[in-house]
Amino acid sequence: MTEREKASQTEKSAEQGVDTTDSKSLSRRLLIGAASLVVLVIVGISVYAVWPRGPQWTDSEVTLLRSLWIGELAPPPADPSNAVVDDPRAVAFGEELFFDESLSVDGSVSCATCHDPDQSFTDGLAFSEGVGVTGRSAPTVIGTAYSDWFFWDGRKDSMWSQALGPLESPVEHGGARTFYVRIIDQEYRVQYEELFGELPDFSDQERFPDNAAPLEDPASSAAWAAMTEEDRDSVNRVFANMGKAISAYQRQIEFGPSRFDQYVEAVVNNDNAAMRAALTPEEEAGLRVFIGDGKCMTCHLGPLMTDNRFYNLDVPSVEGQDPDRGRAVGIQQVAEDEFNCLGRYSDAAPEDCEHLEALDFDDPDIENAMRTVTIRNIAETAPYMHAGQLQTLEEVVEHYNVWEEPGREIDLTEEQKAQLVAFLRSLSSEVILPDESGETASR
Ligand code: HEC
Ligand code: HEC
Repeated sequence: MTEREKASQTEKSAEQGVDTTDSKSLSRRLLIGAASLVVLVIVGISVYAVWPRGPQWTDSEVTLLRSLWIGELAPPPADPSNAVVDDPRAVAFGEELFFDESLSVDGSVSCATCHDPDQSFTDGLAFSEGVGVTGRSAPTVIGTAYSDWFFWDGRKDSMWSQALGPLESPVEHGGARTFYVRIIDQEYRVQYEELFGELPDFSDQERFPDNAAPLEDPASSAAWAAMTEEDRDSVNRVFANMGKAISAYQRQIEFGPSRFDQYVEAVVNNDNAAMRAALTPEEEAGLRVFIGDGKCMTCHLGPLMTDNRFYNLDVPSVEGQDPDRGRAVGIQQVAEDEFNCLGRYSDAAPEDCEHLEALDFDDPDIENAMRTVTIRNIAETAPYMHAGQLQTLEEVVEHYNVWEEPGREIDLTEEQKAQLVAFLRSLSSEVILPDESGETASR
Protein backbone atom coordinates (compact mmCIF):
# COMPACT_ATOMS: atom_id res chain seq x y z
CA MET A 1 0.00 0.00 0.00
CA THR A 2 1.39 3.40 -1.00
CA GLU A 3 1.40 6.40 1.34
CA ARG A 4 -1.40 7.90 -0.73
CA GLU A 5 -3.47 4.79 -0.58
CA LYS A 6 -2.88 4.64 3.16
CA ALA A 7 -3.93 8.26 3.50
CA SER A 8 -7.03 7.69 1.45
CA GLN A 9 -7.81 4.64 3.56
CA THR A 10 -7.43 6.71 6.73
CA GLU A 11 -9.64 9.37 5.19
CA LYS A 12 -12.24 6.74 4.40
CA SER A 13 -12.16 5.35 7.91
CA ALA A 14 -12.27 8.84 9.23
CA GLU A 15 -15.29 9.47 7.09
CA GLN A 16 -16.77 6.21 8.21
CA GLY A 17 -15.71 7.14 11.73
CA VAL A 18 -17.69 10.33 11.46
CA ASP A 19 -20.61 8.35 10.21
CA THR A 20 -20.25 5.84 13.07
CA THR A 21 -19.98 8.58 15.66
CA ASP A 22 -23.17 10.15 14.29
CA SER A 23 -25.27 6.94 14.46
CA LYS A 24 -23.80 6.06 17.88
CA SER A 25 -24.91 9.34 19.40
CA LEU A 26 -28.31 8.89 17.80
CA SER A 27 -28.80 5.42 19.30
CA ARG A 28 -27.47 6.69 22.65
CA ARG A 29 -30.12 9.37 22.62
CA LEU A 30 -32.73 6.77 21.70
CA LEU A 31 -31.47 4.54 24.49
CA ILE A 32 -31.68 7.30 27.07
CA GLY A 33 -35.19 8.09 25.83
CA ALA A 34 -36.25 4.46 26.09
CA ALA A 35 -34.66 4.07 29.51
CA SER A 36 -36.46 7.09 30.91
CA LEU A 37 -39.66 5.73 29.42
CA VAL A 38 -39.07 2.40 31.17
CA VAL A 39 -38.32 4.19 34.44
CA LEU A 40 -41.48 6.25 34.03
CA VAL A 41 -43.55 3.15 33.34
CA ILE A 42 -42.07 1.34 36.37
CA VAL A 43 -42.68 4.35 38.60
CA GLY A 44 -46.17 4.61 37.13
CA ILE A 45 -46.97 0.99 37.78
CA SER A 46 -45.71 1.10 41.36
CA VAL A 47 -47.61 4.32 42.08
CA TYR A 48 -50.71 2.76 40.52
CA ALA A 49 -50.25 -0.41 42.55
CA VAL A 50 -49.64 1.33 45.86
CA TRP A 51 -51.58 4.56 45.55
CA PRO A 52 -55.25 3.70 45.11
CA ARG A 53 -55.10 0.82 47.60
CA GLY A 54 -53.30 3.01 50.09
CA PRO A 55 -50.46 1.66 52.12
CA GLN A 56 -52.75 -0.65 54.09
CA TRP A 57 -52.66 -3.99 52.21
CA THR A 58 -49.56 -5.73 50.93
CA ASP A 59 -49.81 -8.02 47.91
CA SER A 60 -49.82 -11.13 50.09
CA GLU A 61 -52.58 -9.64 52.24
CA VAL A 62 -54.60 -8.89 49.12
CA THR A 63 -54.21 -12.57 48.19
CA LEU A 64 -55.60 -13.52 51.62
CA LEU A 65 -58.54 -11.13 51.29
CA ARG A 66 -59.31 -12.47 47.87
CA SER A 67 -59.32 -16.04 49.18
CA LEU A 68 -62.19 -15.07 51.52
CA TRP A 69 -64.20 -13.32 48.84
CA ILE A 70 -67.60 -14.84 47.98
CA GLY A 71 -66.80 -14.05 44.36
CA GLU A 72 -64.13 -16.78 44.50
CA LEU A 73 -66.64 -19.45 45.53
CA ALA A 74 -66.80 -22.27 42.97
CA PRO A 75 -70.04 -24.24 42.52
CA PRO A 76 -70.43 -26.97 45.16
CA PRO A 77 -68.32 -30.07 44.56
CA ALA A 78 -70.03 -33.02 42.85
CA ASP A 79 -71.93 -35.41 45.11
CA PRO A 80 -71.62 -38.80 43.40
CA SER A 81 -73.64 -40.38 46.23
CA ASN A 82 -76.73 -38.47 45.03
CA ALA A 83 -77.65 -39.02 41.37
CA VAL A 84 -80.37 -36.31 41.36
CA VAL A 85 -78.42 -33.65 43.24
CA ASP A 86 -78.37 -31.18 40.34
CA ASP A 87 -81.77 -32.04 38.85
CA PRO A 88 -84.13 -29.00 38.92
CA ARG A 89 -87.10 -31.33 39.52
CA ALA A 90 -85.36 -32.60 42.65
CA VAL A 91 -84.78 -28.98 43.74
CA ALA A 92 -88.52 -28.25 43.43
CA PHE A 93 -89.55 -31.51 45.13
CA GLY A 94 -86.99 -31.00 47.88
CA GLU A 95 -88.27 -27.49 48.52
CA GLU A 96 -91.79 -28.83 49.08
CA LEU A 97 -90.49 -31.43 51.50
CA PHE A 98 -88.32 -28.89 53.34
CA PHE A 99 -91.34 -26.73 54.21
CA ASP A 100 -93.93 -29.50 54.74
CA GLU A 101 -95.09 -29.66 58.37
CA SER A 102 -97.09 -32.81 57.72
CA LEU A 103 -93.72 -34.58 57.72
CA SER A 104 -93.78 -34.71 61.52
CA VAL A 105 -95.50 -36.85 64.06
CA ASP A 106 -97.83 -34.04 65.23
CA GLY A 107 -98.06 -32.10 61.96
CA SER A 108 -96.32 -29.03 63.39
CA VAL A 109 -92.65 -29.33 62.43
CA SER A 110 -90.82 -28.90 59.13
CA CYS A 111 -87.11 -28.49 58.43
CA ALA A 112 -87.83 -24.75 58.24
CA THR A 113 -89.01 -24.75 61.87
CA CYS A 114 -85.35 -24.79 62.90
CA HIS A 115 -83.80 -23.67 59.61
CA ASP A 116 -85.87 -20.57 58.92
CA PRO A 117 -85.06 -18.74 55.66
CA ASP A 118 -85.75 -15.43 57.44
CA GLN A 119 -83.10 -16.23 60.06
CA SER A 120 -80.37 -17.28 57.66
CA PHE A 121 -81.66 -20.87 57.92
CA THR A 122 -81.19 -21.14 61.69
CA ASP A 123 -83.59 -20.52 64.59
CA GLY A 124 -81.91 -18.18 67.06
CA LEU A 125 -82.03 -20.77 69.85
CA ALA A 126 -79.31 -22.42 71.93
CA PHE A 127 -81.28 -25.68 71.81
CA SER A 128 -83.51 -26.10 68.79
CA GLU A 129 -87.13 -27.04 69.36
CA GLY A 130 -89.15 -29.49 67.31
CA VAL A 131 -91.70 -31.84 68.83
CA GLY A 132 -89.24 -31.83 71.75
CA VAL A 133 -86.05 -29.99 72.64
CA THR A 134 -82.72 -30.94 71.03
CA GLY A 135 -79.34 -30.98 72.77
CA ARG A 136 -77.57 -28.75 70.28
CA SER A 137 -77.94 -25.50 68.39
CA ALA A 138 -79.00 -25.52 64.73
CA PRO A 139 -76.24 -24.43 62.34
CA THR A 140 -77.24 -22.87 59.02
CA VAL A 141 -77.73 -25.18 56.06
CA ILE A 142 -76.25 -22.59 53.68
CA GLY A 143 -72.90 -23.58 52.22
CA THR A 144 -72.89 -27.04 53.82
CA ALA A 145 -72.79 -28.67 50.37
CA TYR A 146 -69.05 -27.91 50.41
CA SER A 147 -68.35 -30.12 53.41
CA ASP A 148 -67.58 -33.84 53.54
CA TRP A 149 -69.14 -33.97 57.01
CA PHE A 150 -72.48 -32.86 58.41
CA PHE A 151 -73.62 -31.93 61.92
CA TRP A 152 -71.30 -30.44 64.52
CA ASP A 153 -69.76 -33.88 65.04
CA GLY A 154 -69.74 -35.00 61.40
CA ARG A 155 -71.84 -38.10 62.02
CA LYS A 156 -73.19 -37.94 58.44
CA ASP A 157 -71.14 -37.80 55.25
CA SER A 158 -73.68 -36.42 52.77
CA MET A 159 -76.36 -33.79 52.83
CA TRP A 160 -79.01 -36.33 51.82
CA SER A 161 -78.19 -38.79 54.60
CA GLN A 162 -78.07 -35.86 57.03
CA ALA A 163 -81.69 -34.98 56.21
CA LEU A 164 -82.87 -38.42 57.35
CA GLY A 165 -81.61 -37.79 60.90
CA PRO A 166 -84.02 -35.02 62.01
CA LEU A 167 -87.00 -36.81 60.43
CA GLU A 168 -86.51 -39.74 62.82
CA SER A 169 -85.24 -37.82 65.83
CA PRO A 170 -87.80 -38.16 68.66
CA VAL A 171 -87.31 -34.46 69.51
CA GLU A 172 -87.29 -33.03 65.96
CA HIS A 173 -89.88 -34.38 63.46
CA GLY A 174 -90.54 -37.40 65.68
CA GLY A 175 -91.75 -39.87 63.02
CA ALA A 176 -90.50 -43.19 61.64
CA ARG A 177 -89.51 -43.91 58.03
CA THR A 178 -92.59 -46.02 57.25
CA PHE A 179 -94.76 -43.03 58.26
CA TYR A 180 -92.85 -40.73 55.86
CA VAL A 181 -92.83 -43.06 52.84
CA ARG A 182 -96.61 -43.41 53.22
CA ILE A 183 -96.92 -39.59 52.99
CA ILE A 184 -94.84 -39.71 49.79
CA ASP A 185 -97.18 -42.42 48.52
CA GLN A 186 -100.26 -40.29 49.29
CA GLU A 187 -99.08 -36.73 48.58
CA TYR A 188 -96.03 -36.76 46.36
CA ARG A 189 -96.37 -39.76 44.05
CA VAL A 190 -96.08 -37.70 40.83
CA GLN A 191 -93.01 -35.71 41.86
CA TYR A 192 -91.38 -38.83 43.26
CA GLU A 193 -91.95 -41.06 40.23
CA GLU A 194 -90.74 -38.40 37.78
CA LEU A 195 -87.39 -38.47 39.49
CA PHE A 196 -86.90 -41.92 40.90
CA GLY A 197 -89.19 -44.23 38.94
CA GLU A 198 -91.98 -46.40 40.26
CA LEU A 199 -92.95 -45.94 43.89
CA PRO A 200 -93.84 -49.14 45.76
CA ASP A 201 -97.35 -49.37 47.22
CA PHE A 202 -97.05 -48.68 50.94
CA SER A 203 -100.75 -48.68 51.72
CA ASP A 204 -100.83 -52.06 53.49
CA GLN A 205 -100.77 -51.11 57.20
CA GLU A 206 -99.87 -54.66 58.24
CA ARG A 207 -96.78 -54.83 56.06
CA PHE A 208 -95.84 -51.20 56.68
CA PRO A 209 -96.92 -50.14 60.18
CA ASP A 210 -96.61 -46.36 60.74
CA ASN A 211 -94.03 -46.52 63.49
CA ALA A 212 -91.45 -48.94 62.04
CA ALA A 213 -87.77 -47.94 62.02
CA PRO A 214 -84.51 -49.24 63.49
CA LEU A 215 -84.56 -46.67 66.31
CA GLU A 216 -83.85 -46.76 70.03
CA ASP A 217 -87.57 -46.80 70.77
CA PRO A 218 -88.38 -50.52 71.39
CA ALA A 219 -91.83 -50.43 69.75
CA SER A 220 -90.42 -48.93 66.53
CA SER A 221 -87.52 -51.33 66.33
CA ALA A 222 -89.75 -54.35 67.04
CA ALA A 223 -92.14 -53.26 64.28
CA TRP A 224 -89.17 -52.82 61.94
CA ALA A 225 -87.73 -56.24 62.80
CA ALA A 226 -91.09 -57.85 62.03
CA MET A 227 -91.06 -56.58 58.43
CA THR A 228 -89.60 -58.64 55.58
CA GLU A 229 -86.13 -57.71 54.43
CA GLU A 230 -87.49 -56.79 51.02
CA ASP A 231 -90.07 -54.42 52.50
CA ARG A 232 -87.46 -52.83 54.72
CA ASP A 233 -85.25 -52.29 51.70
CA SER A 234 -88.00 -50.64 49.66
CA VAL A 235 -88.84 -48.31 52.58
CA ASN A 236 -85.18 -47.42 53.04
CA ARG A 237 -84.78 -46.63 49.37
CA VAL A 238 -87.72 -44.22 49.29
CA PHE A 239 -86.65 -42.68 52.58
CA ALA A 240 -83.12 -42.13 51.19
CA ASN A 241 -84.59 -40.58 48.04
CA MET A 242 -86.51 -38.06 50.16
CA GLY A 243 -83.16 -36.97 51.56
CA LYS A 244 -81.70 -36.75 48.07
CA ALA A 245 -84.44 -34.36 46.94
CA ILE A 246 -84.13 -32.21 50.08
CA SER A 247 -80.39 -32.07 49.54
CA ALA A 248 -80.85 -30.87 45.94
CA TYR A 249 -82.89 -27.94 47.27
CA GLN A 250 -80.50 -27.01 50.08
CA ARG A 251 -77.54 -27.14 47.75
CA GLN A 252 -78.96 -24.23 45.73
CA ILE A 253 -79.22 -21.85 48.70
CA GLU A 254 -76.41 -19.33 48.68
CA PHE A 255 -74.98 -16.42 50.61
CA GLY A 256 -75.23 -13.17 48.69
CA PRO A 257 -72.34 -10.68 48.76
CA SER A 258 -71.81 -8.91 52.10
CA ARG A 259 -70.24 -5.48 52.64
CA PHE A 260 -66.99 -7.32 53.27
CA ASP A 261 -67.23 -8.85 49.79
CA GLN A 262 -67.90 -5.44 48.26
CA TYR A 263 -64.76 -4.27 50.04
CA VAL A 264 -62.60 -7.06 48.64
CA GLU A 265 -63.94 -6.40 45.18
CA ALA A 266 -63.01 -2.74 45.63
CA VAL A 267 -59.50 -3.69 46.79
CA VAL A 268 -59.05 -5.95 43.77
CA ASN A 269 -60.25 -3.15 41.47
CA ASN A 270 -58.10 -0.52 43.24
CA ASP A 271 -61.23 1.48 43.85
CA ASN A 272 -60.57 3.58 46.94
CA ALA A 273 -63.99 5.21 47.02
CA ALA A 274 -65.76 1.85 46.88
CA MET A 275 -63.50 0.56 49.67
CA ARG A 276 -64.51 3.48 51.87
CA ALA A 277 -68.17 2.93 51.02
CA ALA A 278 -68.03 -0.78 51.90
CA LEU A 279 -66.32 -0.88 55.31
CA THR A 280 -65.79 1.69 58.06
CA PRO A 281 -62.22 2.20 59.27
CA GLU A 282 -63.09 0.19 62.40
CA GLU A 283 -64.40 -2.76 60.36
CA GLU A 284 -61.37 -2.52 58.10
CA ALA A 285 -59.10 -2.65 61.16
CA GLY A 286 -61.12 -5.68 62.37
CA LEU A 287 -60.47 -7.40 59.06
CA ARG A 288 -56.77 -6.88 59.69
CA VAL A 289 -57.16 -8.52 63.11
CA PHE A 290 -59.09 -11.40 61.52
CA ILE A 291 -56.35 -12.22 59.01
CA GLY A 292 -53.53 -11.28 61.37
CA ASP A 293 -53.25 -11.11 65.18
CA GLY A 294 -56.58 -12.94 65.71
CA LYS A 295 -55.30 -16.01 63.82
CA CYS A 296 -58.90 -16.68 62.78
CA MET A 297 -57.88 -17.82 59.32
CA THR A 298 -56.18 -20.88 60.77
CA CYS A 299 -59.65 -22.45 60.57
CA HIS A 300 -62.09 -19.91 59.11
CA LEU A 301 -60.75 -19.81 55.57
CA GLY A 302 -62.00 -19.76 51.99
CA PRO A 303 -65.09 -17.92 50.74
CA LEU A 304 -67.33 -19.73 53.25
CA MET A 305 -64.83 -19.02 56.03
CA THR A 306 -64.59 -22.59 57.25
CA ASP A 307 -62.16 -25.45 56.75
CA ASN A 308 -64.92 -27.93 57.78
CA ARG A 309 -62.45 -29.72 60.08
CA PHE A 310 -62.88 -30.69 63.73
CA TYR A 311 -61.33 -28.93 66.72
CA ASN A 312 -61.80 -28.90 70.46
CA LEU A 313 -62.02 -25.19 71.30
CA ASP A 314 -62.60 -25.85 75.03
CA VAL A 315 -65.98 -24.18 74.76
CA PRO A 316 -67.60 -24.51 78.22
CA SER A 317 -69.90 -27.54 78.62
CA VAL A 318 -73.59 -26.98 79.12
CA GLU A 319 -74.26 -26.62 82.84
CA GLY A 320 -75.12 -29.94 84.48
CA GLN A 321 -74.09 -31.95 81.42
CA ASP A 322 -71.06 -34.09 80.65
CA PRO A 323 -68.72 -32.64 78.04
CA ASP A 324 -70.07 -33.27 74.52
CA ARG A 325 -67.63 -35.78 72.97
CA GLY A 326 -68.37 -34.42 69.50
CA ARG A 327 -66.29 -35.95 66.73
CA ALA A 328 -65.12 -38.84 68.93
CA VAL A 329 -68.67 -40.23 68.78
CA GLY A 330 -69.59 -38.85 65.34
CA ILE A 331 -66.68 -40.64 63.66
CA GLN A 332 -68.00 -44.03 64.87
CA GLN A 333 -71.56 -43.21 63.85
CA VAL A 334 -70.69 -42.17 60.31
CA ALA A 335 -68.59 -45.28 59.79
CA GLU A 336 -71.52 -47.49 60.82
CA ASP A 337 -74.28 -45.48 59.10
CA GLU A 338 -76.31 -47.61 56.64
CA PHE A 339 -76.88 -44.41 54.62
CA ASN A 340 -73.21 -43.46 54.27
CA CYS A 341 -71.32 -43.11 50.97
CA LEU A 342 -70.39 -46.81 50.92
CA GLY A 343 -73.90 -48.00 51.82
CA ARG A 344 -76.37 -49.61 49.41
CA TYR A 345 -78.55 -46.48 49.12
CA SER A 346 -75.64 -44.34 47.98
CA ASP A 347 -75.21 -43.79 44.21
CA ALA A 348 -71.43 -43.50 44.60
CA ALA A 349 -68.79 -45.99 43.52
CA PRO A 350 -66.52 -47.13 46.40
CA GLU A 351 -63.64 -45.06 45.01
CA ASP A 352 -65.81 -41.93 45.49
CA CYS A 353 -65.86 -42.55 49.24
CA GLU A 354 -62.22 -41.92 50.12
CA HIS A 355 -63.24 -39.63 52.98
CA LEU A 356 -64.62 -42.70 54.77
CA GLU A 357 -61.54 -44.81 54.08
CA ALA A 358 -59.37 -42.04 55.50
CA LEU A 359 -61.12 -41.87 58.90
CA ASP A 360 -58.64 -41.97 61.78
CA PHE A 361 -60.36 -43.37 64.85
CA ASP A 362 -57.21 -43.11 66.97
CA ASP A 363 -56.63 -39.41 66.39
CA PRO A 364 -56.43 -37.96 69.93
CA ASP A 365 -57.65 -34.57 68.70
CA ILE A 366 -61.19 -35.77 67.92
CA GLU A 367 -62.23 -35.93 71.58
CA ASN A 368 -64.73 -33.12 72.27
CA ALA A 369 -64.05 -31.71 68.82
CA MET A 370 -66.70 -29.93 66.73
CA ARG A 371 -66.69 -28.92 63.09
CA THR A 372 -65.69 -25.41 62.11
CA VAL A 373 -68.80 -23.77 60.67
CA THR A 374 -69.28 -20.83 58.34
CA ILE A 375 -69.23 -17.41 59.97
CA ARG A 376 -71.05 -15.67 57.14
CA ASN A 377 -74.25 -14.00 58.42
CA ILE A 378 -72.92 -14.62 61.91
CA ALA A 379 -74.48 -11.42 63.31
CA GLU A 380 -77.89 -12.90 62.41
CA THR A 381 -77.42 -16.29 64.09
CA ALA A 382 -76.77 -15.84 67.83
CA PRO A 383 -76.34 -17.64 70.16
CA TYR A 384 -73.03 -19.21 69.21
CA MET A 385 -71.20 -22.55 69.31
CA HIS A 386 -72.65 -26.06 69.23
CA ALA A 387 -74.93 -25.58 72.21
CA GLY A 388 -75.33 -21.82 72.05
CA GLN A 389 -72.98 -21.46 75.01
CA LEU A 390 -71.86 -17.98 73.95
CA GLN A 391 -74.52 -15.31 73.62
CA THR A 392 -72.77 -12.53 71.73
CA LEU A 393 -69.93 -12.02 69.27
CA GLU A 394 -68.10 -10.13 72.03
CA GLU A 395 -68.22 -13.33 74.13
CA VAL A 396 -66.97 -15.39 71.17
CA VAL A 397 -63.97 -13.09 70.63
CA GLU A 398 -63.26 -13.05 74.37
CA HIS A 399 -63.38 -16.87 74.37
CA TYR A 400 -60.67 -17.05 71.72
CA ASN A 401 -58.66 -14.39 73.53
CA VAL A 402 -58.44 -16.39 76.76
CA TRP A 403 -58.15 -19.80 75.04
CA GLU A 404 -54.79 -21.28 75.93
CA GLU A 405 -54.13 -23.65 73.07
CA PRO A 406 -50.43 -23.93 72.23
CA GLY A 407 -49.79 -22.20 68.91
CA ARG A 408 -53.29 -20.76 68.80
CA GLU A 409 -53.18 -18.31 71.72
CA ILE A 410 -53.95 -14.73 70.88
CA ASP A 411 -53.63 -11.58 72.91
CA LEU A 412 -55.80 -8.84 71.50
CA THR A 413 -56.18 -5.34 72.92
CA GLU A 414 -59.66 -4.09 73.87
CA GLU A 415 -59.60 -1.96 70.73
CA GLN A 416 -58.74 -4.94 68.50
CA LYS A 417 -61.52 -7.04 70.05
CA ALA A 418 -64.08 -4.34 69.29
CA GLN A 419 -62.70 -3.99 65.75
CA LEU A 420 -62.91 -7.75 65.19
CA VAL A 421 -66.55 -7.82 66.33
CA ALA A 422 -67.33 -4.89 64.03
CA PHE A 423 -65.75 -6.80 61.15
CA LEU A 424 -67.75 -9.97 61.90
CA ARG A 425 -70.90 -7.86 61.64
CA SER A 426 -69.93 -6.79 58.12
CA LEU A 427 -70.30 -10.41 56.96
CA SER A 428 -74.10 -10.22 56.80
CA SER A 429 -75.77 -10.55 53.44
CA GLU A 430 -78.96 -11.52 51.73
CA VAL A 431 -79.71 -15.19 51.30
CA ILE A 432 -80.19 -16.31 47.70
CA LEU A 433 -82.91 -18.93 47.24
CA PRO A 434 -83.57 -21.15 44.25
CA ASP A 435 -86.82 -20.18 42.54
CA GLU A 436 -89.32 -22.49 40.82
CA SER A 437 -87.31 -22.70 37.62
CA GLY A 438 -84.21 -23.80 39.49
CA GLU A 439 -82.67 -20.35 38.94
CA THR A 440 -81.79 -18.31 42.01
CA ALA A 441 -83.76 -15.42 43.46
CA SER A 442 -82.97 -13.05 46.33
CA ARG A 443 -84.82 -13.06 49.58
C1 HEC B 1 -85.96 -29.34 65.91
C2 HEC B 1 -85.12 -28.50 65.12
C3 HEC B 1 -84.61 -29.05 63.81
C4 HEC B 1 -85.34 -29.56 62.77
C5 HEC B 1 -86.84 -29.75 62.68
C6 HEC B 1 -84.39 -29.85 61.72
N1 HEC B 1 -83.13 -29.51 62.13
FE1 HEC B 1 -81.48 -29.55 61.02
N2 HEC B 1 -80.37 -29.22 62.65
C7 HEC B 1 -80.86 -28.96 63.91
C8 HEC B 1 -79.79 -29.05 64.88
C9 HEC B 1 -79.92 -28.82 66.36
C10 HEC B 1 -78.63 -29.39 64.16
C11 HEC B 1 -77.27 -29.68 64.74
C12 HEC B 1 -77.36 -31.02 65.40
C13 HEC B 1 -76.06 -31.70 65.68
O1 HEC B 1 -75.03 -31.30 65.12
O2 HEC B 1 -76.05 -32.68 66.42
C14 HEC B 1 -79.03 -29.46 62.75
C15 HEC B 1 -78.16 -29.70 61.69
C16 HEC B 1 -78.54 -29.68 60.37
C17 HEC B 1 -77.64 -29.68 59.25
C18 HEC B 1 -76.13 -29.74 59.32
C19 HEC B 1 -75.51 -28.42 59.09
C20 HEC B 1 -74.03 -28.52 59.26
O3 HEC B 1 -73.35 -27.48 59.25
O4 HEC B 1 -73.51 -29.63 59.41
C21 HEC B 1 -78.40 -29.67 58.11
C22 HEC B 1 -77.90 -29.66 56.67
C23 HEC B 1 -79.78 -29.70 58.54
N3 HEC B 1 -79.82 -29.68 59.91
C24 HEC B 1 -80.85 -29.82 57.69
C25 HEC B 1 -82.12 -30.16 58.15
C26 HEC B 1 -83.17 -30.71 57.32
C27 HEC B 1 -83.04 -30.99 55.84
C28 HEC B 1 -84.26 -30.88 58.11
C29 HEC B 1 -85.61 -31.45 57.76
C30 HEC B 1 -85.61 -32.80 57.23
C31 HEC B 1 -83.86 -30.44 59.44
N4 HEC B 1 -82.56 -30.04 59.43
C32 HEC B 1 -84.71 -30.40 60.51
C33 HEC B 1 -82.16 -28.68 64.20
C34 HEC B 1 -83.22 -29.05 63.41
C1 HEC C 1 -58.61 -23.94 65.70
C2 HEC C 1 -59.63 -23.58 64.74
C3 HEC C 1 -60.35 -22.26 64.95
C4 HEC C 1 -59.81 -20.99 65.10
C5 HEC C 1 -58.36 -20.60 65.19
C6 HEC C 1 -60.93 -20.09 65.16
N1 HEC C 1 -62.11 -20.79 65.08
FE1 HEC C 1 -63.98 -20.03 65.22
N2 HEC C 1 -64.75 -21.90 65.27
C7 HEC C 1 -64.04 -23.07 65.16
C8 HEC C 1 -64.87 -24.19 65.52
C9 HEC C 1 -64.43 -25.64 65.55
C10 HEC C 1 -66.13 -23.66 65.87
C11 HEC C 1 -67.34 -24.44 66.42
C12 HEC C 1 -66.97 -24.81 67.86
C13 HEC C 1 -68.05 -25.34 68.73
O1 HEC C 1 -69.22 -25.10 68.48
O2 HEC C 1 -67.71 -26.00 69.71
C14 HEC C 1 -66.02 -22.22 65.69
C15 HEC C 1 -67.06 -21.33 65.90
C16 HEC C 1 -66.96 -19.96 65.70
C17 HEC C 1 -68.07 -19.04 65.80
C18 HEC C 1 -69.51 -19.42 66.12
C19 HEC C 1 -70.21 -20.03 64.94
C20 HEC C 1 -71.63 -20.38 65.22
O3 HEC C 1 -72.41 -20.48 64.26
O4 HEC C 1 -71.99 -20.62 66.37
C21 HEC C 1 -67.58 -17.79 65.55
C22 HEC C 1 -68.35 -16.49 65.53
C23 HEC C 1 -66.16 -17.92 65.33
N3 HEC C 1 -65.82 -19.25 65.41
C24 HEC C 1 -65.30 -16.87 65.07
C25 HEC C 1 -63.91 -16.98 65.12
C26 HEC C 1 -63.00 -15.87 65.19
C27 HEC C 1 -63.42 -14.41 65.18
C28 HEC C 1 -61.74 -16.38 65.28
C29 HEC C 1 -60.45 -15.64 65.48
C30 HEC C 1 -60.36 -14.89 66.71
C31 HEC C 1 -61.88 -17.83 65.25
N4 HEC C 1 -63.20 -18.15 65.17
C32 HEC C 1 -60.81 -18.72 65.32
C33 HEC C 1 -62.70 -23.16 64.82
C34 HEC C 1 -61.79 -22.11 64.95
